[in-house]
Amino acid sequence: MQKSILITGGAGFIGSHVIRRFVNNYPGYTIVNADNLTYAGNLENLKDIETAPNYIFRKTDITDKESVMALFNDFSFDGVIHLAAESHVDRSITSPDEFIYTNIIGTVNLLNAFRSSAPGVTGKKLFYHISTDEVYGSLGRSGLFTEETPYDPKSPYSASKASSDHMVRAFGNTFGFHWIISNCSNNYGPNQFPEKLIPLTINNIKTNRQIPVYGRGENVRDWLYVEDHAAAIDLIFHNGVPGETYNIGGDNEWKNIDLVTLLCRIMDEKLGRDKGTSEKLITFVTDRAGHDLRYAIDCRKLKRDLGWKPSVNFREGLTRTVEWYLANNEWLERIVSGEYTQYYQQQYTRKS
Ligand code: NAD
Ligand code: DAU
Repeated sequence: MQKSILITGGAGFIGSHVIRRFVNNYPGYTIVNADNLTYAGNLENLKDIETAPNYIFRKTDITDKESVMALFNDFSFDGVIHLAAESHVDRSITSPDEFIYTNIIGTVNLLNAFRSSAPGVTGKKLFYHISTDEVYGSLGRSGLFTEETPYDPKSPYSASKASSDHMVRAFGNTFGFHWIISNCSNNYGPNQFPEKLIPLTINNIKTNRQIPVYGRGENVRDWLYVEDHAAAIDLIFHNGVPGETYNIGGDNEWKNIDLVTLLCRIMDEKLGRDKGTSEKLITFVTDRAGHDLRYAIDCRKLKRDLGWKPSVNFREGLTRTVEWYLANNEWLERIVSGEYTQYYQQQYTRKS
């Protein structure tokens, strides 16, 4: 089937895996990647598919209304998968404004352009918004987030994502077009920017630097391999019910300190270091402000209704991830030698 699909944020971590999957699996689709190439966007992530005949890159800042309108005028999109966002919680604490512009205003610009190109539900064009479990706030020691859990965001990042979710539902309801939202737990895997816990830990072990663990490392996250998220997005885009929300998670909860310790062991094996070498780098630092204690997802709806399940076991996924970072040293070096160095100093000098 011939289709033209807009994927925003395709040069980022998750977006690049989604683009690769769609370009390779759907040769009949034209995939347009609209990304502004912020510090987190990297076209190197897409080197293997950049010359594919069904792939187009268009540098676009979604906060710029005119550029977004021009994009929709130049292509007749059959569907949108919206991933572009400011995504790092710590950055949202030091400079929240970008999160408001990109995550809220950027989403509204896309919704406005989409509704002028997709009038009425009969058009069957879908606006699929990729969101996070953080919109639900923080869990105590027990319980799971379901699709009915009330929104209770606690950081500028999660509040901006919650706001964009509300905008998608409100625009869909008011202007009568098809929309879907999915809320996913923590992703990990190749191409993740090394400001996030797992690639930061891998990089610090590799370079013999302290591993900063916030507080006592008691916070819990539910981890999902990025390709399993991309597979869920593919399934939901094609088979999801318009007007529905789907939670996506790995059924894989880890305390940060246990996860970091496991990573240390895998890294020691891979680097041929003595057992226990990397664990000595673990350093407890000042906690993240307003740090959510625990996220955990109930994704039974997605499993039951659409037949999805995670395919990559955590130890295997972490090993693959470590191997990718060790084999792609140049990718990492180029990132850590740029804006990242300044960010790292600001973020971690204060904390240690
Ligand atoms: P990322 O930070 O790696 O990538 C974000 C991408 O968006 C980058 O390519 C960046 O250049 C682009 N972008 C940022 N501002 C833009 C703008 N104004 N205009 C156009 N493009 C812009 O993020 P990620 O981790 O891949 O997350 C992707 C999406 O998935 C986000 O919406 C995030 O909220 C959501 N999400 C992420 C996770 C996770 O664990 N990483 C989990 C659940 C949901
Ligand atoms: O839950 C989904 C969310 O997961 C996504 O919406 C976000 O875009 C994504 O960044 C991620 O948010 P987290 O804040 O959970 O991820 P991060 O990797 O920043 O941190 C994971 C945990 O590790 C968290 O409890 C904070 C802690 N941490 C993080 C860093 C960067 C540390 O202890 N030390 C660190 O240096």
